[in-house]
Amino acid sequence: MKRFRYALDPLCVGACVAYAVCRWVIRPHWTGLFWHGYSTDCLFIPAALPLLLWVQRQLGLRSHDRYPDWPEIGINFAVWSVAAEGVAPFIFKTAVGDWMDVVAYASGALVAGVWWTFAGRTGFDRLAPHYGWMEKFLAGPRLQRCRTQWFDQLAGARRILIVGVGHAPELQALTVRCPAAHFTCVDASAGMLAAAEARVHRDGLDPTRLTFIHAALPAWQPPAGEYDAIVTNFFLDCFSGEELSAVVHRLATAAAPEARWVISDFTVPPRGLARLRARFVHALMYVFFRVVTGLRAARLTEPDPLLTAEGFTLTGRQTSEWGLLHADLWSRGPR
Ligand SMILES: C[S@@+](CC[C@H](N)C(=O)[O-])C[C@H]1O[C@@H](n2cnc3c(N)ncnc32)[C@H](O)[C@@H]1O
Repeated sequence: MKRFRYALDPLCVGACVAYAVCRWVIRPHWTGLFWHGYSTDCLFIPAALPLLLWVQRQLGLRSHDRYPDWPEIGINFAVWSVAAEGVAPFIFKTAVGDWMDVVAYASGALVAGVWWTFAGRTGFDRLAPHYGWMEKFLAGPRLQRCRTQWFDQLAGARRILIVGVGHAPELQALTVRCPAAHFTCVDASAGMLAAAEARVHRDGLDPTRLTFIHAALPAWQPPAGEYDAIVTNFFLDCFSGEELSAVVHRLATAAAPEARWVISDFTVPPRGLARLRARFVHALMYVFFRVVTGLRAARLTEPDPLLTAEGFTLTGRQTSEWGLLHADLWSRGPR
């Protein structure tokens, strides 16, 4: 969890500076209703709420140091609006109630809420609430088709490891096609795992068939030789170089001697316009994930030689979207 720093929060510091500039630099030199009536009201929540929350924390009214969430912002906004615009005019002669002030507080609260929601999360936690609708909007059913392409081949599996499970878009299909299996689902993002567990509940899946583990590869050590199937959907593309080898090696040690490994991911076609297009799409994606999640990998690294070195053979590959996507089935040992 990222700790909120109250008065040292960058938004709070920026809003306090902006407040001082509005009040003592702009107002004496500029006329205009906004500067004289509402500018400082817009800054009220970003500047004052962190200080109010710090006081609440010292008084034991706040039990944690998380970033302010929407209910907390909403309650403080409502209490302040009623006190300043509804009650104060009855008590102080100079105070005047103005509903436009409430609109100004609300606009500051909205900006601060969006900022704190983003700043309070790290890595894929930032994307977790939005991953599902973004995928639907940008890719429709294409990624899901890749994820589920080889699931029939896992029908007899009893222990399946899904790594980088995210919000678990494949889990329902997998539980249906592998009726005897228990699933271990690993992800480094607590937000993604929370979304996955919510989906399990929503889809009415049997929770006794599932174990969720909050852990990061390659540090996480799975039990050796335990799983007869491994699923990594749009996960290996999060790594490159030594880290990718370490992740593949770690997962290969968890695989049983005759395990299968289902991989869906982005790929680069060998030549032509399709290759250029894929390079362009990947460049956009990696910049996006780097900015939003802090992803370290900067370009796609094909894991194929690493899988081969771990004793896996490519037994099926389906490419789609002009070679941009592939769904692979890798197998180890005699079949
Ligand atoms: C691009 S998302 C794909 C999620 C999901 N498999 C899907 O098909 O939509 C990558 C997922 O891998 C997880 N992840 C990234 N790095 C990880 C690591 N080192 N160990 C475990 N999970 C990781 C992220 O939290 C995220 O949920």
